[in-house]
Amino acid sequence: MPGRALDIGSGRGRNSLYLTRAGWAVLSLDPSIRRLQDSSKSPDFTIQRMGLVLGRGERLPVKDEVFQLALCTHVLESLPPNVAQEIIDESRRVMARGGFVFVATAASDDSTTTQYIDGVVGRSHLYGEAEFLELLTGFDLIELLNLKLVRPKSTPPAAQWIFIGRKS
Ligand SMILES: C[S@@+](CC[C@H](N)C(=O)[O-])C[C@H]1O[C@@H](n2cnc3c(N)ncnc32)[C@H](O)[C@@H]1O
Repeated sequence: MPGRALDIGSGRGRNSLYLTRAGWAVLSLDPSIRRLQDSSKSPDFTIQRMGLVLGRGERLPVKDEVFQLALCTHVLESLPPNVAQEIIDESRRVMARGGFVFVATAASDDSTTTQYIDGVVGRSHLYGEAEFLELLTGFDLIELLNLKLVRPKSTPPAAQWIFIGRKS
């Protein structure tokens, strides 16, 4: 199955490096040069199979329909919803037909209503189910997961959505 994968908001590259090890040719995109540099310092980094691009998900410097997998994990919750939508629309543009999309983002506690929390890195948008699915309209749903994360007693419970879908 491995082909070409795009990791949108790749950060320090944990997912890109994992996919690279699994045989994918990965393009890692992030607006932070420091995080991209950290990715390249990993012993698993291989320039033959992993490209690094400085950029933003809402303007992907990539041709149409070239990736078999688009990944976006823990990026959307920190962005305004209209920017999140632009990122998802761009990811659909660059995915080949039949390609897979994997999106993980923060979920609201009750999983229905959207919530906002102010944290150390700014305001987080915690998606309710309907809003999250609306964001991904146009992809065929394969699996929607709502994961409750177990945290130490002192911090509130946290939840996340995972959407796995396909471009038909
Ligand atoms: C919490 S990190 C997640 C990194 C990685 N996806 C992971 O799951 O380990 C969020 C990343 O999103 C990046 N980011 C912020 N705004 C972005 C945008 N508009 N487009 C793409 N990435 C963005 C940040 O620079 C940061 O590296």
